[in-house]
Amino acid sequence: MKIEISKTVEQMAPSGIRAFFDLVLNMKDVISLGVGEPDFVTPWNIREKVICSLEQGYTSYTSNKGMPELRKQITSFLKQRYDMDYDFDNEVLITVGVSEGLDLAMRAILNPKDKVLVPEPVYVSYGPVVELAGGTVVTLKTDIKSGFKITPKQIDQACTKGVKTLMINYPCNPTGVSYTKKELEAIAKVVKKNDLLVISDEVYDELTYDFDHTPLASIKGMKEHVVYLNGFSKAYAMTGFRLGWVCGPKKVVEAMTKIHQYTILCAPIDGQMAAIEALRNSFKSVQMMKKEYKRRRRFMVDALNELGLSCHMPDGAFYVFPSIKSTGQSSMDFAQNLLKEQQVALVPGVAFGKSAEGFVRISYASSYENLKEAIARIKKYLKK
Ligand SMILES: Cc1ncc(COP(=O)(O)O)c(C=O)c1O
Repeated sequence: MKIEISKTVEQMAPSGIRAFFDLVLNMKDVISLGVGEPDFVTPWNIREKVICSLEQGYTSYTSNKGMPELRKQITSFLKQRYDMDYDFDNEVLITVGVSEGLDLAMRAILNPKDKVLVPEPVYVSYGPVVELAGGTVVTLKTDIKSGFKITPKQIDQACTKGVKTLMINYPCNPTGVSYTKKELEAIAKVVKKNDLLVISDEVYDELTYDFDHTPLASIKGMKEHVVYLNGFSKAYAMTGFRLGWVCGPKKVVEAMTKIHQYTILCAPIDGQMAAIEALRNSFKSVQMMKKEYKRRRRFMVDALNELGLSCHMPDGAFYVFPSIKSTGQSSMDFAQNLLKEQQVALVPGVAFGKSAEGFVRISYASSYENLKEAIARIKKYLKK
């Protein structure tokens, strides 16, 4: 039988991260600093809560939108943490990770050929979810000179016919860069001027190290312009629970819920139970993990700069993003050779878009000992 695959899917490149890490699976003694996953296990109180809920027989579907108890927990958490006001019944949807939120948002708002502004370097799923929804990516390139930040002017100039959406992610995967409140206020002005809807992925918000995180939707006049995505994977070390949330204008959340109810039905109930406990009782665990990430961040930035791989201090997340331009190698060659010769796995910058060439992403969500050993191996590699 001749099987035909959708042209859009056929033309889509596989994730640069996964492709690279399939190589790692078959190798021994590899220090893997590639995948963006906390090395901590989910805090015990969260796991215990899930075990109890299973014992009590919580194994069913929930409301499509997610358990009301969890949605209420999220709205009161956002009120307390950031003074944001959302109606749990109309403006919140529980998703299978931020990943689902990104996909739903695109499918809910885009019509064929609509254009979406996407900053680069960019998290690997952004381009594909835009294309799968029939949209077209308009890249906003950033570089080390601009601190890997998009500027209001850049957004304004890119707002040509057909542009109605901006995707933003801060702290950013892969650069670790974030935005201050002042910078966000300037971005907000140009968003309002051009009547854009912003999909704001703030999944690393709790892992912001040197200043307070400001949600874009919390800025005056921005609530109606923002679909705010967040989740439990990173700060709570809950990647496997697959739990995220969306807060946004009622009309958009309703449209996203429509797709979600036909394709996913509801997020898994054990993940929702875990999320309730995470928001109620995990502040100390999150702070403990954050403190350790911060210690590792310092170590990695200093060590890489000492090795001559120029590295900016990331504001958040758990990635460093050093330049490897001084080696004269492409990011793919650097990553492949380092893996072959010294068994250290990191992600070539090019996986995050053309403007990330010349850089590599190293995750420091790995033990301090692993990081020290990785640096020693990178040193050996560079000496050769
Ligand atoms: C920027 C960004 N958004 C979304 C995701 C996906 O998160 P989730 O596990 O909640 O689907 C990741 C995971 O690495 C990420 O880095």
